[in-house]
Amino acid sequence: MIKDNEASVLFRLNYASKAQVVVNQGGTSSGKTYAIEQVLFCLAAQKEKQIITVVGQDIPNLKAGALRDALTIYNNSAQLQALIKNYNKTDRVFEFNNGTV
Ligand SMILES: Nc1ncnc2c1ncn2[C@@H]1O[C@H](COP(=O)(O)OP(=O)(O)OP(=O)(O)O)[C@@H](O)[C@H]1O
Ligand SMILES: [Mg+2]
Repeated sequence: MIKDNEASVLFRLNYASKAQVVVNQGGTSSGKTYAIEQVLFCLAAQKEKQIITVVGQDIPNLKAGALRDALTIYNNSAQLQALIKNYNKTDRVFEFNNGTV
């Protein structure tokens, strides 16, 4: 079992990819969204003033899926919390100290 915020092989492969587009295909609840968001949080921290967008089919889906996972990752990582200035609940935006959102 993967412990909270432990990086899976999915994380490593997505993080290491140099491709312009990366497609993750796999079963329901296999950890795609979670791993991709861990990668996006890392990329966000690495370079200042970027705009990173996570899209989904609609807001209810994002709230129950990608957004919930993002908040879980954030809440379980003191390291990440130290890099993030603010989470704007209304706009659903994480604002990093380095200017990346
Ligand atoms: N590295 C991890 N550490 C802790 N929990 C994880 C991890 N990866 C996945 N999980 C847990 O498993 C759940 C399902 O993972 P996730 O939502 O990423 O699957 P998915 O492949 O995107 O599924 P779907 O195809 O339905 O979108 C997450 O909500 C989370 O609770
Ligand atoms: Mg998913």
